Amino acid sequence: MVFELVERDAAGRIGKWYVGGKKVKTPLLLPVINPNIPVVSSNELRKMGCEMVITNAFIIKSSFADKAVERGVRKITGWNGPVYTDSGTFQMFSRGVKDLSSREMVEYQVKIGSDVVTPVDMFTLPDETKREANVKLNETIKRTREARELVDFLCVPIQGGCFTDLRACACKAASEIGGEVYAIGGIVPLMENYRFTELSDIVLTCTSNLPSNRPVHAFGCGHPMVFSLLVAFGCDVFDSAMYSLAACKGRYLTPTGTRNLSELREFPCFCPVCSRHTPEEILKMGEKERIKKLSLHNLYISFQEIKEIRQAVYEGRLWELVQERVRSHPRLLEALIFSLKKYRSFFLSRDPVSKKSAFFYSGKESELRPEVLRAKEWVKRVRSKKYFVKKPFGRIPVELWGVYPFFQSIVPGFTEEKQPKVSEKSVVKAIMDYQFGDGAGKLLKTFEVEKSKKTGKIRRIISKGKVLGTIRAYDNFFLPTVHGAELLKEKMKKIVVRDEAVEFVKKGRDVLAKFAETDDKVFPGEEVVVEDREGNIIAVGKCMLNRKEISEFDKGVAVKVRNSVKYLSS
Ligand code: GUN
Ligand code: ZN
Repeated sequence: MVFELVERDAAGRIGKWYVGGKKVKTPLLLPVINPNIPVVSSNELRKMGCEMVITNAFIIKSSFADKAVERGVRKITGWNGPVYTDSGTFQMFSRGVKDLSSREMVEYQVKIGSDVVTPVDMFTLPDETKREANVKLNETIKRTREARELVDFLCVPIQGGCFTDLRACACKAASEIGGEVYAIGGIVPLMENYRFTELSDIVLTCTSNLPSNRPVHAFGCGHPMVFSLLVAFGCDVFDSAMYSLAACKGRYLTPTGTRNLSELREFPCFCPVCSRHTPEEILKMGEKERIKKLSLHNLYISFQEIKEIRQAVYEGRLWELVQERVRSHPRLLEALIFSLKKYRSFFLSRDPVSKKSAFFYSGKESELRPEVLRAKEWVKRVRSKKYFVKKPFGRIPVELWGVYPFFQSIVPGFTEEKQPKVSEKSVVKAIMDYQFGDGAGKLLKTFEVEKSKKTGKIRRIISKGKVLGTIRAYDNFFLPTVHGAELLKEKMKKIVVRDEAVEFVKKGRDVLAKFAETDDKVFPGEEVVVEDREGNIIAVGKCMLNRKEISEFDKGVAVKVRNSVKYLSS
């Protein structure tokens, strides 16, 4: 079973996860199915876009025992697709049940046909002492190791309470053990009590320390108001029991918070429930029906939020969505600000260097976003005689007027000025310095600029009849050809391709992560040069992964090749 990265934004990603013989899409929401209290049918789940469910081995074992082994988890839950099982740690914990043998629970999950099996980890409360947290962490690691001997398709739980050093240790142990998915445990009480800063601190400690090549699951975080924040922080999988727990209490979930049904005069939603009923009608229904309707709405809105997040990732505006969402609770905003400050280097390593959507300034915290930090850093590489000022980027060389994110940003109080008059050659050189470092522009020496007849914008850079590269329309980044890379080589980051893939890449095929290596601290979205082991340039293209990811992913593309030696353009 594998995980492959398809698209990315902030520290978030869209991935393909091959699990239980099927392919599911992340960010993924797993509704919790309680076979004893079936609220929503399999059919209804499918209609909402559900791809996989999670159920609880402890509950199944208590209610069905060996009958579940005969019937299998799919018959028991009524879900005929991939099924994840939680061991029941949280339920045992909530009900004060003494731990059942982890080995026994793991074997039971295998027997009932689960696709992802969870050991009995030790639930750690946020306010436990470090000693207690450490004991539970070590026991969790021990049980996970034992489970790993029994199954490949393992959920590896991460405990450690609120102690980030313990969480980091847990991640290290988890990486060594390895599994199908890493699950951050013990965070439900933080979510329920709106302790979002501590929640974020834990999540980011984990996502920045765990291997990047497997999905990360935020155990029990089923409130749609935290999805976008947690995706931006690197979580890929969520499970929701909350849709039905909230429904039982008459609560109506929205991506901006929880409402009481009794207080609603209008439904701010157009799901099949909310478009057919008024709050009053649902209040008047019998308990069973009311819970069913509320559960359905709660699930619809949760899936809708997941889709909204995925679309934001595709468009490169996940931070904007997050900033919108955190406005619904001051504690969320506080968590975002805290995280942007504390985890800036992690965000810089994951956030693409250029985006198709403009940067929208939507509050003071925009100034802490990786796009701004990177732009401020890269601007220092460029020398100029004239500058203009645009908040929050500061002083910008006029040559970079059209370059992402300076032009592709909307900031209150800044009205777009006319493009300053500067020579095209100095613009090209400034772009090189900005992207590849001080002195890159000088490496070009003699070149000509070819402009688009339609728009008058710089299109191609040519030298002695050879195309060195093009300027991309939406961000004005320079995209070198192999010829261009030959000149810029010393300034560009290098991806080395293993021998067996060299011929493919020379023909213009993408560099697969499996065959790629690099020593350079490369960022997603950067233009890189691709070489064979001897240091010969074989291609150029856009790097899709950072250095850590290149070393960890064994599936998917590391470099999207744009030009290769077999197709040298002239
Ligand atoms: N569900 C919510 N939190 C947890 C946790 O810490 N461990 C497990 N196994 N399940 C959970
Ligand atoms: Zn609704």
